[in-house]
This record gives sequence, structure tokens and C-alpha cells, in this order.
Amino acid sequence: MKLLITGGAGFIGSNFIFYMRKAHPDYDLVCLDKLTYAGNLQTLQSVMKNSKFKFTRADIADRKAVYEIFETEKPDAVVNFAAESHVDRSIENPAVFLETNVMGTQVLLDACRKYGVQRYHQVSTDEVYGDLPLDRPDLFFTEQTPLHTSSPYSASKASADLLCNAYQRTFGLSITISRCSNNYGPYQFPEKLIPLMIANALVDKPLPVYGEGLNVRDWLYVDDHCAAIDLILHKGEVGQVYNIGGHNEMKNIDIVKRILAIVGKPESLITYVTDRKGHDMRYAIDPSFIHEKLDWLPSTMFNDGIEKTVQWYLDNKEWWENIVNGEYQNYYERMYGNR
Ligand code: NAD
Ligand code: TYD
Repeated sequence: MKLLITGGAGFIGSNFIFYMRKAHPDYDLVCLDKLTYAGNLQTLQSVMKNSKFKFTRADIADRKAVYEIFETEKPDAVVNFAAESHVDRSIENPAVFLETNVMGTQVLLDACRKYGVQRYHQVSTDEVYGDLPLDRPDLFFTEQTPLHTSSPYSASKASADLLCNAYQRTFGLSITISRCSNNYGPYQFPEKLIPLMIANALVDKPLPVYGEGLNVRDWLYVDDHCAAIDLILHKGEVGQVYNIGGHNEMKNIDIVKRILAIVGKPESLITYVTDRKGHDMRYAIDPSFIHEKLDWLPSTMFNDGIEKTVQWYLDNKEWWENIVNGEYQNYYERMYGNR
């Protein structure tokens, strides 16, 4: 089996490569990544020399480059992680989200049609369902929940999902889609809540909490997401959407306080800042479908996962210091300077 993994130099894609290397050592893995600000070849260092791994730099929206890669590599299946993935950046500059997340997905789907693959798997997000109110803890996102997006990021991801469905129905392409809740773990870019708070706490910088910090996210350790995708790829039903989540809802402020407690820093570092525009209140996945159909359950509980994650950032300071000392400083100033 040869798998084309797009966006494999980012957070979840790289963890998926490491996961598949262990779970299926006989598979050939080809990583296609544009290496945007969020992609990092240093992350893939440990697999670069493996004879069953290949890295190729390309933009998924570049039709000619993508077709060439399909022609040479002839992948049996594609897992698409490549995306612009940060809501705040999508508010600042929506256009690139449409180019990569929508047009890029379309190019990949066309390549799959032209060259033929056994399966195309689209890595989507629970954000396509919009948000849930805080006063209705009985409500959850199921696979039947209507798409109802809030940010340019989630709108672009929902558009890509709709295109995937259309290619399945119209052209008979063998497609599956997964919609996962918020991930955390090693190699997550420090612009996202958990790594940003860990990195700031470790250097005694203020921890910028949006609004009152009451928004709720449903956190899943990244390896559990990778395990679910592996199952869907091999045992999932064509044309099916699978929601992935572990019933681990937490308020942002509680996450931030937990991180401070683990690293032994004072809560006085917490700084409340102007809220995100259109900020979704609560995400919560009902994972019963994937549990019943594919026997998937998360294996890392939050208490263990967050300790492991903080330890990883402590042990791999060079990885994130290289990032926060570079172009990221300009982003940080733009995003947080006047907030
Ligand atoms: P990330 O931002 O860490 O990584 C994205 C990767 O895609 C980077 O390596 C980047 O270089 C690459 N990329 C971006 N544009 C590209 C292009 N045009 N062509 C080729 N490569 C390109 O993102 P992530 O957090 O690892 O998310 C991966 C996927 O999972 C995304 O599709 C995202 O929507 C989805 N997702 C993320 C989460 C989460 O909590 N992070 C949750 C659910 C779903
Ligand atoms: P994020 O990691 O950007 O994921 P998403 O918005 O896609 O769920 O943010 C998670 C939550 O944390 C979200 O409610 C916004 C909030 N947040 C902050 O309060 N401060 C920050 O600096 C960041 C990046 C996020």
C-alpha cells in the first residue's frame, strides 16, 4: 500500500506519519507539503532517511505539480491534512483559506479521478457544524447535524466537505470524511491555544485569554485522532462521515489554569484580551457512531495527555524556540499587540 499524505509536515499530519510508520511498517508513505509557516521539515527528521518514506514539496492547489506527483508515485490512497488551519488567521486573511482548503481539495479530487485511487480521505473538523450554546449541555454534534459555519476557516472546510460528497455521488470517487474535535499533543504550532499557553508560561509571558475564557472545546490527544483515521481508511464505509471526539469538554480558562499548575507558574500571568470576532461558544462531538461502527475509543485521558504534552514542549524547546524567535514574532505582534 502506498499512501499519499498531504500536509504531513504540520501538526496532525506529522503525528499521523509517525503513527502509520509504527502501525504499518510495510506501507510506503509519501508526504506532500507546501511548507507554509505551519509546515516544518525538522519535525519529519526522524523519518526522512527511511527507505519507505518520501517527502515532496508542492502546493495542493498547483494542479500541474499535483498531477506530476500522482503520475510518478501512483498512490493507492490519499489522506488530506493540508490546510490553512488557524481561525484567527482566517479572520485576518480569508483568501488563502479558500485557495488551499477549497481549490486545493478540488485539485486533489480531480487527481484522484484522473489517476484512480482506492480511497480519498478528507480530514475535516467539528467546526463545520458551527457552535452549541453553553446552556444546553445535552446537545452534541452528530453526523446528521447541519453544516452551519462561523469563520472563514470553518466555511472553507465545510465547502471542501461538500465538494468531497459531490465527487463521491457524481463521479463515484471512493471518499470518506472525518470531523474531529480540537487536537493537542507534540509538534503543534505555538499559535494554537495549548502550545501557545505552554510556550508563554515557560518564559513568563502573559497568557492571552479571549473574552472571559468561558468558551468550551472538546479536546482529543492527537494519537487518538490518528488511530481513528487509520481505522476509517481500512474499515470505513465509502461516502460516510465519521465524527471523532472523546467527550472531553473543557472551558479555555480551565485549560490555561491547568497548564500553569503543571509548569508551576502563577495565575497572575493570565491576561484577558479582546474576544475573537464571531467566537464559537462550544464544540462537543457525539462519537457514538464511530464507536459502534469501527470500535474506536480514545485511549489517552486528558490528565495524562496534557502532562505528556507539557513534558514534550519542555524536552523539545529548540523545536518551538526556533519558531517563536522567527517570523512568528511579527504574527504575535499583529494578533496580540493592541488587544
Ligand atoms: P497545521 O496548520 O499544523 O498543518 C497544516 C500543514 O499543511 C502544514 O504542514 C502546511 O505546510 C501544509 N499546507 C498548508 N497549505 C498547503 C498547500 N496549499 N499545499 C500543501 N500543503 C499545505 O494543521 P493541523 O492542525 O495539523 O491540521 C491538519 C488538518 O486537520 C487540517 O485540515 C485541519 O482542518 C484539520 N483539523 C485540525 C484540528 C486541530 O485541532 N488542529 C482538529 C480537527 C481537524
Ligand atoms: P484554537 O487553538 O485557535 O482552536 P479553535 O479556535 O479552532 O477551537 O483556540 C481554542 C480556544 O482558545 C478558542 O476558544 C479560542 C481560545 N484562545 C484564546 O483564548 N487565546 C489564544 O491566544 C488562542 C490562540 C485561543
